[in-house]
This record gives sequence, C-alpha cells and structure tokens, in this order.
Amino acid sequence: MSKASLVVLISGGGSNLQAIIDAIKNRQLDAEIKAVISNTASAKGLQRAEKANINTCIIDHTRFDSRELFDREMIKLIDPLKPDLLVLAGFMRILSKAFIAHYQHRLINIHPSLLPKYKGLNTHQQAIDDNETKHGASVHYVSEELDSGPVIIQAEVPVLKSDTVETLAERVLQEEHKIYPLAIGLHCDKRLTFKNNQLQLDNKILKQPLLWKKNKLV
Ligand code: GAR
Repeated sequence: MSKASLVVLISGGGSNLQAIIDAIKNRQLDAEIKAVISNTASAKGLQRAEKANINTCIIDHTRFDSRELFDREMIKLIDPLKPDLLVLAGFMRILSKAFIAHYQHRLINIHPSLLPKYKGLNTHQQAIDDNETKHGASVHYVSEELDSGPVIIQAEVPVLKSDTVETLAERVLQEEHKIYPLAIGLHCDKRLTFKNNQLQLDNKILKQPLLWKKNKLV
C-alpha cells in the first residue's frame, strides 16, 4: 500500500507540524508530507519544513480581494498534490464554504479547547477566566461552521490556580503534539472515516471522541 499523503497548512510557529514530521521520522505515522503551505512569509514553521526537506509555499492572503479568491488559489496549488488528508496546523484563516466542501471528509484541524467549549480565539484566557478545572485540545474533521465538525480525539489537562495564559497554553500544546499525529495516523491507516456525517473507527460508530489523559488513551 502506498503511503498516505498530507498537505499541511500553517500560519505560525509550526510546533504541531514538527510533531507530525517527527512522528513520520520515528515511524509512528506512515505518511508523507507533500507540501507545507503558509499564508504568511514570517511563519516559523516554514523553516521547520525546509529543514525536513519538505516543499513549502507561501500564499499571502493580503494579496487577494476576497476569502473566496484566496481559497481558490490554494485549491489550485493543493489539488495537483492529491492529498489524502489536508491538515490545518495552526492555520489562522477562516476557510470559505466552497473550500471546506471541496475537501470534505479529508480536512482536519486541531483547536486548543475541549470543543464545543471556546471556539475561536483566546481559548486559554477564557478557560482561566471561567475558573475551569480542566482544559485541553480537540482534533476534528472540519465542517462549515468555525471550529466545528465531528471531534475525533480530545486531550485533557488540568488548569492550575497558578496558571497564566502562557503556562496553560504550553501544557495544552504538549498534548496537541501527541494527539494530532495519532488522529492523522488513524485516518491515514483508514481505520477512521468520516462519512454520512458520522465517524467510524474500526468499522464501529465513534459516538464520543477518544480521550487522551495523563499520557494515554482512556
Ligand atoms: C495551536 O495551539 C493550535 O491548536 C492553534 O494554534 C496553535 C498553533 O501552534 N490553532 C487554532 O487556534 C486554530 N483555531 P503551532 O503553530 O506551534 O502548531
């Protein structure tokens, strides 16, 4: 069987991209990254990709008059690469309905909250402000609504009284690096599918997201 192919979209530091690169290198993930695309030239993740000899491309969203035109340009670039999975790894642009529909069932995102809580930005601050005792991250297939779509796996971490946004974000990020390659692997190995608005894992309906806690699936 040929390796599953990925295209990864980033906007920033790319630590999740790095986790995926490392998982492939360590053979935890049987996949190949065809390209890394960033909407900004300053994304540090581009350097991580170059270091791993992965093709990179910058499509500066400010050059386009509309979201739709920007997304159309991305599709032009992505489609010839024929990815089995399009991976949003800290890609901070809202995608058009047309883009999402185009990659339906093979578009995946990681979001730093226990969805459906705290969609959008500033999730860590909100969790602290709300005196949450737990927080985390979710990997989900992307549907039309922002930070929505069926959740595959969540990682849960405690919120400590002493936490600042930075310490909490770092604790969550460490877990993101574990669950994202895991979820991508399930898709690439065809163990996980998203069809008819339903997730199936090993041919069984996945009624609840998988839960990653204290360094293991529970
Ligand atoms: C991660 O925390 C990711 O969950 C978040 O951006 C960060 C990117 O970090 N994504 C979102 O907020 C998307 N809604 P990274 O560039 O180091 O992987």
